[in-house]
Amino acid sequence: MLVGQQQYRTIWVLENTSQHLQAVAIIDQTKLPHDFDISHITDLQQMVVAIKTMQVRGAPLIGAAAAYGMALAMQHDTSDAYLQQAAVQLIQSRPTAVNLNWAVQRMLKLLLPMATTNRNQAAWNEAAAICDEDVLLNQAIGRHGLALIENATKNQGQNLAQNLAQNKVFNILTHCNAGWLATVDFGTALSPIYAAHNAGVNVHVWVDETRPRNQGASLTAWELGQHGVPHTVISDNAGGHLMQQGLVDMVIVGADRVTSTGDVCNKIGTYLKALAAFDNRVPFYAAVPSPTIDWSIENGLIDIEIEQRHGDEVAYMQGLALDGSLQNVRIIPLASQTANPAFDVTPARLVTGIITEHGVFAPNQLRSIQRE
Ligand code: MRU
Repeated sequence: MLVGQQQYRTIWVLENTSQHLQAVAIIDQTKLPHDFDISHITDLQQMVVAIKTMQVRGAPLIGAAAAYGMALAMQHDTSDAYLQQAAVQLIQSRPTAVNLNWAVQRMLKLLLPMATTNRNQAAWNEAAAICDEDVLLNQAIGRHGLALIENATKNQGQNLAQNLAQNKVFNILTHCNAGWLATVDFGTALSPIYAAHNAGVNVHVWVDETRPRNQGASLTAWELGQHGVPHTVISDNAGGHLMQQGLVDMVIVGADRVTSTGDVCNKIGTYLKALAAFDNRVPFYAAVPSPTIDWSIENGLIDIEIEQRHGDEVAYMQGLALDGSLQNVRIIPLASQTANPAFDVTPARLVTGIITEHGVFAPNQLRSIQRE
C-alpha cells in the first residue's frame, strides 16, 4: 500500500548486507502514527523480540515474520537442533494468533527432511512464498467483501448507482487494526473497505481506538488516512451507541484464530461489539484468510489460549508530547492493580459471516472450505 507516494509491504528482505548476509526490514509499528521508522532485523533473537514487543503485529504479519525468523536462524546454523530451537522460540513469542504456529510448522515440514546444506536458501524462498500468498489471500478477501458491501447497499432499499448518485454513506465499524499493517499487504478486515473505496462506494469507517494499545487510533486511522478513506476515530465505548442511532451499517473485524465451528478470537473488546451488533441487527463479519482458521478446535472459549500482556499497557498511554518526543504517561493510581487479557472470543452465534479467500460463509458452513 502507499505511504506518501511510495509503495510498501510491511516486511521485506534486504539482500547482501554485511558479510553477504540477508536481513529483514520491518516497519516499526510501535512508533506509528508519529514516526515511520524502518528497522533491520538480522537474527532470530531480534525477530523474537520484534514479535513480542509488537514492532510487528497482526496475525498474518506475525506468521510471515516468524517464517523469516526461521530463515534468519538457518543463515546462522542449519542443524536440526537449532531449527527446532528456533521453532520453539518463535511459537512461544505470542500464543493466540494461530498464523504464527501455522507458518513455523510449514517451515519445519519443508526444512527438516532436507539436507542441511540446502536449508538456508530453501528457508528464504519459503518465507517469501508465505508473504506472496498472504497478499493474494487478502486481495481475494477484498473482492468477496466488496461484493458483500455492494449487496448491502442495495439492501438499504436503493441500488448502488442510486446510492452513489445521492452520495449515500455506507458506515463500517472496525476494531483494532486488521489492515495492511497487520498483514503483508492489503489487510483482512480493511481489504474490502479499500476495495469498496477504490470502486467508488462512499464508505466511511468508524475506527475503535482499541485500548490498551490503541491499534485502531494509531494504526488503522493512519493507514486509512494514507489511502484517503474517510474515517472517524471513536472511543471504544461509543460503538453500541452509534449502532442504536442507526449509524453503523456493518461491522468488519479481523481475527487471530477462528475455530472450525466459526467462533472468532480477536482483539479484546471485539465480543462487546458483536453483542451490540446482534442487539441492533447490524451484520457482524470477520475477515479471515484460511491460515487463521484452526481446524483442530471447535470451542473457542475453551480451546484458545488468551495472551495475557503486561499491565503497564493498561497503566500507561503513549503519545506525542508538545516537544515532539514520544512519551509514556501513567493514567492510573500507582497502587492500583491491572489485568490485561489481549484477546476475547466471539461465539459463532453472534457472527453473521466469515469473509475468506474462498467466499463468504455462515459460521456453520466454514468446514466446507477445509482442505486437509
Ligand atoms: O495484538 P495485535 O495487534 O497483534 O492484534 C491484532 C488483531 O487483533 C487483529 O485484529 C488480528 O490479528 C487480525 S489482523 C489481520
